[in-house]
Amino acid sequence: MMEAARYSAVELLRDGRRVEIRALKPDDRTGLAAAVGRASSQTLYRRFFGPKREFSEREVAFFVNVDFVSHVALVAVVEEAGRPMIVGGGRYVVVQPGKAEVAFAIVDQYQGQGIGAALMRHLAAIAKGAGLKELIAEVLPDNIPMLKVFEKSGFDFTTKREPGVVHVVLRLS
Ligand SMILES: CC(C)(COP(=O)(O)OP(=O)(O)OC[C@H]1O[C@@H](n2cnc3c(N)ncnc32)[C@H](O)[C@@H]1OP(=O)(O)O)[C@@H](O)C(=O)NCCC(=O)NCCS
Repeated sequence: MMEAARYSAVELLRDGRRVEIRALKPDDRTGLAAAVGRASSQTLYRRFFGPKREFSEREVAFFVNVDFVSHVALVAVVEEAGRPMIVGGGRYVVVQPGKAEVAFAIVDQYQGQGIGAALMRHLAAIAKGAGLKELIAEVLPDNIPMLKVFEKSGFDFTTKREPGVVHVVLRLS
């Protein structure tokens, strides 16, 4: 198992372009901010459960300073006009021993290309390698793409529906 902080894998998008799925680095701050700037309000709403576009210094520090043990973050990087651009990301945060909460966001123009599924696969592999047993998530009930990513992950998957939120549990073992 590759060390999580140095993780890197190349995947193909549905349109044949290459995407690198790699560990987030502290100097990705600008790249992440640019990706947030390109994401639609709906995408940010589905990720943050509210109309969020601005982030405090504390929130930014949380997003970029990951320890790759209790908090693991991967980004999806595509070449645009010869330059690597972050177009999405996925992360998990350990919330209890053996259990981590996952979340994803992909820039709209890259959604539906398989990046969410690829991030899920790589994050689950890292989580399994680290001995985690479950990945959990809270998903808005109308967020079919996210529910599909969990469903297609191949892991045992349960959902509990409550008004306004679906609680998802993925069993890694
Ligand atoms: C949810 C999200 C991460 C999925 O990433 P993605 O790269 O678009 O997902 P994939 O391309 O791997 O597609 C996963 C499945 O959802 C389907 N899908 C994607 N966009 C869809 C849409 N708008 N409507 C219906 N299905 C859709 C895909 O077709 C695919 O199913 P398939 O393999 O049967 O075709 C991404 O859409 C996103 O960033 N959404 C906004 C933020 C968010 O919802 N975060 C989740 C918080 S936990």
